[in-house]
Amino acid sequence: MYRKLSFLCLAIYLATLSDAMTLGDQIKEAFAEFVHDTDSFLRLDDHGTVVNCGSSNMNLTWTPKTISSKGILNIDGYVQFPAEFQTGTIVMEVSYKIFHRTMKFQVSCSMMQAYGLQVQCPVKQDQMVKGQITINDLSALSNVHGSIEVKIRLYNSSWTQLFCGIVNADVN
Ligand SMILES: *[C@@H]1O[C@H](CO)[C@@H](O)[C@H](O)[C@H]1NC(C)=O
Ligand SMILES: *[C@@H]1O[C@H](CO)[C@@H](O)[C@H](O)[C@H]1NC(C)=O
Repeated sequence: MYRKLSFLCLAIYLATLSDAMTLGDQIKEAFAEFVHDTDSFLRLDDHGTVVNCGSSNMNLTWTPKTISSKGILNIDGYVQFPAEFQTGTIVMEVSYKIFHRTMKFQVSCSMMQAYGLQVQCPVKQDQMVKGQITINDLSALSNVHGSIEVKIRLYNSSWTQLFCGIVNADVN
């Protein structure tokens, strides 16, 4: 009876031992969990910051920091325009890998309003534009994989610069 019982205990002990993880495994698992939690926290908090290359007072950030062509992009912050603006030109310089292209677009203050920006038209000098815009369709970036730099400048119709910002982002 005693032998039987001790055998049973041994069997249970061996069963728990083989079920239990080694210390190394436990540490590995605990670490993975910690990194996962930290990572998802950082991802939530992670934003890219538009580099100011002009004279406007601004702070623009985007999330998520790493842009996915299948995802969305939120741009948040403020710009204080240092000049008057009714109509003008956006000059966009895109650098990707060894490629570089300059694009120009005609833009008006009312087009910005239509885009959802809380801007009063015409823009008077020192007008502060605050807000958040969401870009839902990033499929234009579907062939971009890696780091991309976009320099955006806005001029009024007499070529006074209102804004210069550089977005340096990773796209996947
Ligand atoms: C710009 O805005 C971001 C996000 O709100 C903030 O974390 C950061 O501190 C701001 N930077 C400056 C210079 O105000
Ligand atoms: C462009 O901005 C400058 C500086 O504010 C201003 O003197 C000029 O009249 C503006 N041009 C137009 C067409 O609004």
